[in-house]
Amino acid sequence: MKIGILGPGRVGAALGKMWSLAGHDLALAGSQNPEKSQAVAHWIGGTAKAVSNAAVAELSEVILIAVPWWSITKTLQSTGDLSGKLLIDAMNPYAPGYAGRDPDLAKSVSVAETMAKWLPHSRIVKAFNTVPDAALTSELHHRGIAEAPGLRQPDGNKLPDSAPGPGEWPCLIAANDDSDVGMVETLVREIGFTPVRAGGLSRSILFELGGPLYGQRLGVDAIRQRLRDLPA
Ligand SMILES: NC(=O)c1ccc[n+]([C@@H]2O[C@H](COP(=O)([O-])OP(=O)(O)OC[C@H]3O[C@@H](n4cnc5c(N)ncnc54)[C@H](OP(=O)(O)O)[C@@H]3O)[C@@H](O)[C@H]2O)c1
Repeated sequence: MKIGILGPGRVGAALGKMWSLAGHDLALAGSQNPEKSQAVAHWIGGTAKAVSNAAVAELSEVILIAVPWWSITKTLQSTGDLSGKLLIDAMNPYAPGYAGRDPDLAKSVSVAETMAKWLPHSRIVKAFNTVPDAALTSELHHRGIAEAPGLRQPDGNKLPDSAPGPGEWPCLIAANDDSDVGMVETLVREIGFTPVRAGGLSRSILFELGGPLYGQRLGVDAIRQRLRDLPA
């Protein structure tokens, strides 16, 4: 599959590396500095290449959006036509500098639904936003791969001992189209994680920053139980 990554940072680079190892073609864009995208493409290896924001839509069937929420408007302005593309939204609604939840986004509104409103001709799937970068790094280390140069996570992001280990992480997914969910489930399984369906896109509010399932560091069974305990 041809996969685009908008935002080849800690999350985008690690997922790109693992998808490349699973046999996918990667096109990277969205960095503020094109040289950084090139360095990540070189680290990923295989057929991965750095392209312009404008080219990522043209080259990709599925696009992971892993830029900070505060830069999404600017990113989309320079990205090509995303109509018909499956967009995996991995963002959490942080205010600039990760200073809490974006006060301009209503508490009852999710990033994923906002993206669907802005891009009505794209297929939005919420996924990967609950998987910490430390879990991705740990998965890479488990495979004997050092993280991309310059993208080491801050020490404060260390996982508690009780967190799932490599190959044990759940990945919550919300979307309105079952076949789109199925495609993302495959991409989740290919990197050794377990997909957990949360329901339609409106359910993403439950597991974005500010929701009851965000930042839980729970295993698959426990997160499924938490989902069942929440109102439908
Ligand atoms: N870190 C986590 O544990 C985690 C887990 C799940 C989801 N997320 C979400 O995934 C997204 C990416 O997180 P990350 O930890 O991978 O971030 P990151 O390492 O800082 O990477 C962000 C990427 O977005 C690019 N970018 C474009 N415009 C930017 C701007 N105005 N300011 C800063 N970066 C900009 C960066 O390019 P440059 O390098 O050129 O700045 C970089 O490639 C965020 O929405 C975050 O909420 C994070």
